Amino acid sequence: MLKSNQDRKLKHLFDGSDWNVYEPNILNLGVGAPGTDLLAANCDNFRTATDHCLEREKRENQSLIFQYGPTSGTFEVRREISTYFTEVFQSPVNCEDLIITTGATQGLHLVLSTMLDFEGFVFVDEYTYMIALDSIKHFSTLTIVPVKLNDDGVDLRDLEEQVFKRRFQTKKKEFWGLYYTIPTYHNPTGILFSPEVCRGIVQLARKYDFLVVCDDVYNILNYGEKPTHSRLLSYDDRKDADFAGHVISNGSFSKILGPGVRLGWLELPPRLKPILDGSGFANSGGCFNNYTSGIVGSLFELNLAQKQIAVAYEAYKERMLATTQVLRDELPACCKLVSPTGGYFIWVRIPDQLDCREFLKYCLENHKIYFIVGTRFSADGQSGKQFFRLSIAFYSKEKLVDGARRLCNALKDFIVQQ
Ligand SMILES: Cc1ncc(COP(=O)(O)O)c(C=O)c1O
Repeated sequence: MLKSNQDRKLKHLFDGSDWNVYEPNILNLGVGAPGTDLLAANCDNFRTATDHCLEREKRENQSLIFQYGPTSGTFEVRREISTYFTEVFQSPVNCEDLIITTGATQGLHLVLSTMLDFEGFVFVDEYTYMIALDSIKHFSTLTIVPVKLNDDGVDLRDLEEQVFKRRFQTKKKEFWGLYYTIPTYHNPTGILFSPEVCRGIVQLARKYDFLVVCDDVYNILNYGEKPTHSRLLSYDDRKDADFAGHVISNGSFSKILGPGVRLGWLELPPRLKPILDGSGFANSGGCFNNYTSGIVGSLFELNLAQKQIAVAYEAYKERMLATTQVLRDELPACCKLVSPTGGYFIWVRIPDQLDCREFLKYCLENHKIYFIVGTRFSADGQSGKQFFRLSIAFYSKEKLVDGARRLCNALKDFIVQQ
């Protein structure tokens, strides 16, 4: 009873625990979501886009936005998405390759449930998005196989070794195995997979016929030099003689418009798209999010989405550059930081003999600072005690800079005490 009363008071995912982000003396650096300030413009923008969309529906479209949609989503909305991302990625995104989803979380679930033999294998980076791990574990007959991660991406030799040992012929589904990753501004490590690693992954996927699913939710949040590639999918080149289609890009508006919008898209090669379009899951729902996608389509037509994304981008960039500067200057020399060139996350390594679970306890008790320990990102929940992840997305630059300084001081004190 108490629990449900508490639930009723919650307004979002991060205001319920002891680490409520609104408590003024608490710094919760675990939150991988846009700060409240970045959502503020949404009310006016979405109201304008809703009027625009519904006026047209009434006038020209018999209000069909309220009908089950075409399975992939309407052509008009997919065209808005493909036009925008073709420009920012500087690489073609074809609207016929897209299927609208309610975000990357659903995109991954949809792919797992339709494309992979349930006796199969899911290869994951040794540290990976923790809730994706939780989602994959729902498919309890699948086996999760962690693969070593280097500073430039997955270790290709280890990936090949792991894949080689486990491959089998499947008669039940399109794929026996799937590699799930976040190649662009990786969660939790912040790294960008190098072109060589991306190329190598595609070669292995073709050689051993496994599927690569990329969560591409941070790709346009690039704060340094523009990377040579916008997404791993562009390495699965359709002009190659051995092209078959082994990579799926799983996109989302959560980080750039707002997670509550619940809108994303999958970008798939031609041989895989019909598997989704023909699935009961996708078909029964019509388009997964017909109404909201129509509103977001108008948001793009009116140029409001583009403006809002630009504002969010500038804020994230400023936050990341300022926070990493403090860490570079003030982290103890025995700690390691790979300054990310994009995305939300900073991954810090402390000396191996120390344990970040202990450091977190120390920070909570003495400084009211929260972050996520590396073990949360490993499939066994045990590896990664020497790492922790910080997020720059939620708080203002000033609060992050102050917090990063306090965290560095806390770490110095913690190390001295060990
Ligand atoms: C790698 C990754 N994938 C997926 C998600 C969730 O995306 P969505 O809100 O589109 O479901 C997140 C959010 O933290 C993420 O970091």
